[in-house]
This record gives sequence, structure tokens and C-alpha cells, in this order.
Amino acid sequence: MSFVKAGVIGHPIHHSKSPIIHNHWIAEHGLEGDYKAIDIAPENLKAGVDALIAEGYAGFNVTIPHKQEIFKLCAEVDETAKAIGAVNTVVIRDGKLFGTNTDAFGFIENVKREAFGVDFSHRPCVVLGAGGAARAIIHGLIEAGAQKIILTNRTIEKAQDVASLNNNIVEVAAWDKRSEILDGAGFLVNTTALGMTGKEPLTIDLSALPADATVSDIVYAPLTTELLAQARHGGRQIVTGIGMLLHQARPAFEKWFGVLPDVSAELEQKVLR
Ligand code: ATR
Repeated sequence: MSFVKAGVIGHPIHHSKSPIIHNHWIAEHGLEGDYKAIDIAPENLKAGVDALIAEGYAGFNVTIPHKQEIFKLCAEVDETAKAIGAVNTVVIRDGKLFGTNTDAFGFIENVKREAFGVDFSHRPCVVLGAGGAARAIIHGLIEAGAQKIILTNRTIEKAQDVASLNNNIVEVAAWDKRSEILDGAGFLVNTTALGMTGKEPLTIDLSALPADATVSDIVYAPLTTELLAQARHGGRQIVTGIGMLLHQARPAFEKWFGVLPDVSAELEQKVLR
């Protein structure tokens, strides 16, 4: 195989962990290629992407603020990306862009690996937050069999918008009811940035959440957030946020490099450093 070029586009992009992940796999599998972080300002999106096509890139990941704008530049966007309303992975073929989204896969794959016998379908799943990450996670939960999702968000209109895309399964609750709605739930996920180092804490009381429920957080700095510490204290299974980042990268890597890589403890340590 000839040298394969891939990368991630965003603005800003210097914080991205994706180069560490993909370059680790390139080395692990002895492949010829590289993966770069590419800063493209919003006003330069088309020119920036055209340059990648001209340079023979196999494709790229897409992050903030381009996940919606990139739709317009794609020749095709698959059903998953349409349902989530965002493209995070692009394959370039014959100079054309094909968009997909691997975030829902990354989230569910991580939870299934980390939590024994996790139950998405028999009891409600509670989702905190209604931003871009929530949309991907809700899509993943529904694909994984969720029958009822209770969505709560500080701005209720945003939760209602997300619910209207997934009628019958997603129910909206007020943000000040976030502790009460945990009664009888089988799964809880925080999709907001609350609890991240430097951000406000996530205040929630888990006493109504069953002891056999699973709790997950997409925040991974700190790795064990206050939410997860509280959940574990009550004897519940927890799933940290780093795995979603690692697992969403796997199908993207496979599309460009032709190998489905796996997540090792060594890679996880590298990314957390
Ligand atoms: P992402 O794409 O990472 O999900 P986002 O779209 O900016 O990021 O969404 C951030 C989420 O965190 C939103 O659900 C946001 O709530 P609002 O819709 O009310 O803005 C939530 N969030 C951010 N700061 C918050 C705070 N101080 N209290 C409660 N929720 C907060």
C-alpha cells in the first residue's frame, strides 16, 4: 500500500488527541502513513478541504466548528451522520467527500466493553445535556435497543428539539428534576462538560438511581469525575469517558488504512498523559 495521509480538521486544533491515537496505530500495524492536526478557520473550510484533496489525502476527521458545515461539501452523507446531524469522519474517493459519524459507535462500544451486562432496553436511560455529544449518544442508545430515554438539559428547548427527532423514545424532563428522574433507571450518562477540570461541577443526587444501574461520563479530565465517584460509592458500575474517544477513532482508521485497530492499555495511557 502506498503512503496514506489522514488528519483531523478543526479550529482550534492543537488540543486534539486524535494524532496520538492514529499515529500509534500506524506504528503498531507497521503501516506507511501519517495523521496530522490541521487548523482550518471557518472561512477557509472549502479551500482547506480542497487542498487536502489535491494533496491526495485518504480522508480526515472533523471537529468543532466544522461538523455541520462539512455536510455541504460532501457528495454523500450516510444515514448515521444524518440522524446525528454531524459528520465526524470523511473518506475521500475520486476527489469526492463521503461523510459519516463514528461517535455513536464509539460510545456504545466502550460502554459494552467496560460494563458487564449493561441494560439499555429494560429500564429507562437518562441523558444529561442536549448538545452535539448527546445527539450522537442518543442515536447510539436507540440503535443499542433503548426503549425509553429521559433527556434533561438546562435549556429545555434544546432537549425538546432533540426529542422531536426521536419521537416516542425520548422524553424530556426539566433540569431541576435531574435527580428525581433517576428513579428506576438502568443507565445514566453525562454528556455535558460539567465536572471537567476548570468547569463548574455537576450537582446531582444519585440516591434514587438503582444500585445495579451503570453510570457513564464523557468527561475524561479528571478520568474519575465526581459523578463517577459518587456512582461507584453506591456500588454501581461506571464507565469513564476516555474510551468513547478511543473507540470512535477505530472505524475511521479502518476506512483510511484498511485495518480495524484495537484499544490497548498502552494507547489509553498515552492519550491520558
Ligand atoms: P457538545 O457538542 O460537547 O455536546 P455543546 O453542544 O456546547 O457541546 O453542549 C454543551 C451541553 O452542556 C449543553 O447541553 C449545555 O446546556 P445548554 O443547552 O443549556 O447550554 C450543557 N451545559 C453547559 N454548561 C452548563 C451549566 N453550567 N449547567 C448546565 N448545563 C450546562
